[in-house]
Amino acid sequence: MLPPRSAFPPGFLFGTATSAYQIEGHAAGGPGPSHWDTFAATPGNVRGGANGARACDHYHRWAEDLDLVAGAGFDLYRFSTSWARVMPEGSGPVNAEGLDFYDRLVDGMCARGLKPALTLYHWELPAALADLGGWRNRDTALRFGDFAEAIGRRLGDRVHSIAPINEPWCASWLGHFEGLHAPGLRDIRATARAMHHLLLGHGRAIEALRGLGLGNLGAVCNFEHVLPADESPEAAAAAARHDAIMNRFFVEALFRGRYPEEVLAGIAPHLPPGWEADFPGIQAPLDWFGINYYTCKRIAPAPAPALWPGYAAAPGPLPKTALGWEICPEGLEALLIRIARDYTGALPLLITENGMAAPDTLVDGACEDAERIAYHAAHLEACRRAMAAGVPLAGYTAWSLLDNFEWAEGYEARFCLVHVDFESLQRTPKASYAAFKRALEG
Ligand code: FCB
Repeated sequence: MLPPRSAFPPGFLFGTATSAYQIEGHAAGGPGPSHWDTFAATPGNVRGGANGARACDHYHRWAEDLDLVAGAGFDLYRFSTSWARVMPEGSGPVNAEGLDFYDRLVDGMCARGLKPALTLYHWELPAALADLGGWRNRDTALRFGDFAEAIGRRLGDRVHSIAPINEPWCASWLGHFEGLHAPGLRDIRATARAMHHLLLGHGRAIEALRGLGLGNLGAVCNFEHVLPADESPEAAAAAARHDAIMNRFFVEALFRGRYPEEVLAGIAPHLPPGWEADFPGIQAPLDWFGINYYTCKRIAPAPAPALWPGYAAAPGPLPKTALGWEICPEGLEALLIRIARDYTGALPLLITENGMAAPDTLVDGACEDAERIAYHAAHLEACRRAMAAGVPLAGYTAWSLLDNFEWAEGYEARFCLVHVDFESLQRTPKASYAAFKRALEG
């Protein structure tokens, strides 16, 4: 059972999240191609050769989808704007139809009493900017500031909050070092530059939004609870490197104006000249900080030859989700306490994503996803423990509303409260949806 709303302080916000490319259907409404279209069109990158062209067809079915969010009793809906939909070439002329879509969507949220929690960039970089080097190119960060301004001008009067970039670690490391997400590179120089330019872009967007007089601005990073695979000093050092790259790099830049030594040891020669001078913009004050959390990770030293960063993930003993991710609510508690203690202090924290993939199927028209209910319940209890320990946690957002295009996993990893039949596009609320509805009434 999920802990009821009454187990949390008054004003604690409950929400659910989605992102543009994962649900909208990128073929509709006149967007430009994005680097996720390119990545998905390249054989071997996405399971089943899938892409986001149709996805959940949220572009046409958004009203029904917002009814689902409101119907469960959520306070907040975290959604994202597609840069390629709004600016097909990445800069210059705006696709009026795209901007109108988000305008209607935000009005639709307000009409249903939902707080619109906007993320500007959830990974679909316009392909025209990818052609110019994408996040490797400093200019992309400046163009992102322009995009932020265009969106802020149109939607800023009605949105509850804005975060410029979702999970800069995925957008840089996973896409440029591991090659598992768009743009599919394995290139340390590209990685270093993308890491830095995403932060620069974040700062430019905050500056543009503040310039419009907008408030409640934040940032969203993803974290894993990192554990050494064994008790050896080598495993401890490997775990510290992964922790520095994944957990410390972005938050340390945002709140301390520096990069961890363990990361500079690998990327310093590849950073753009003069990178230190960008920290004042990167460190622009924020009103909240969002944490996406799914799992813990055990880290072992990589086998020789040990090029930096020299580590590999090792299997762990905990129960796992359908993607093999260990279920570790204690890790969320530990991370919340650590982030508040080391970086954010009294700044309100939000869980902006948390959820699990399961092999959900419809049986007689119903999906009994009991494991997902247990997952959310355990993580909500972890939130309560962290709050009891003094963490200023202000809300919890479940990933995700609708089964969707799960990036490199295609349509095969279902994370959501509502089942989607990808043939008929029919939406069927799962047992976890009903569980949230009950908890939010109580
Ligand atoms: C996060 C992403 C989100 C979704 C979940 C499962 O890293 O922000 O789009 O893919 O993982």
